Amino acid sequence: MIEPDFLRTTRTAYDAMAARYAELFADGLEDFPLDRAMLGAFAAFVRADGGGPVADLGCGPGHVTALLDSLGLDASGVDLSPEMIAIARAARPDLRFEVGSMTALDLADGTLSGAMARYSIIHTPPEQLPRICAEFHRVLAPGGHLLIAFQAHDDPSELAESFDHKVALAYRWSPDGVVALLTEAGFTEKARLVRAPMADERPFPHAHVLLTRT
Ligand SMILES: C[S@@+](CC[C@H](N)C(=O)[O-])C[C@H]1O[C@@H](n2cnc3c(N)ncnc32)[C@H](O)[C@@H]1O
Repeated sequence: MIEPDFLRTTRTAYDAMAARYAELFADGLEDFPLDRAMLGAFAAFVRADGGGPVADLGCGPGHVTALLDSLGLDASGVDLSPEMIAIARAARPDLRFEVGSMTALDLADGTLSGAMARYSIIHTPPEQLPRICAEFHRVLAPGGHLLIAFQAHDDPSELAESFDHKVALAYRWSPDGVVALLTEAGFTEKARLVRAPMADERPFPHAHVLLTRT
């Protein structure tokens, strides 16, 4: 199958900057207490339902996969960028990391208890997002939990707004629009947190949405 351009461009860009990205986030989410709060809630819901496999989709260098592991989850990571995966494997040889794409995951139907997509839809062209939502639904078991985080914008009439990004063309998303797509794909929203940007972030709000696969 011919690979869409946006996947090739995104992979090439993250391969080139993987080492720098890993250094930037070497201290995990120490400075992001609200992000950690949503991760903690996600982990608590997965654990309360008996645990089970959780995938960090678009895991980058695996720093948040490691955090999920520290929260008692059976966490593994998937990323488009082989360089990111090499860094993740070197940092945490005890965890599973695989190269792959959220557009066509190499996971059997209904195998996950939890899935997280943290800032990994950022380079997805809006018309491709329904396909990714369908993949999230396919790989999660009924009752499974999804945590999705992304840079947001305030206009509910526009699903996505593009912005210049040093890696590749990027999109920020309407939280209502993303939730509507996920609802169509078979999810129910449980909670959302929209936080202000931190001092060294672009002046965009950040959305973290927790949903359950119905
Ligand atoms: C902004 S980084 C976020 C990394 C990490 N989740 C974090 O929270 O720091 C985006 C990551 O998503 C990955 N990515 C983008 N599109 C992807 C796709 N279709 N499938 C898998 N990974 C993807 C990129 O390679 C990159 O590592």
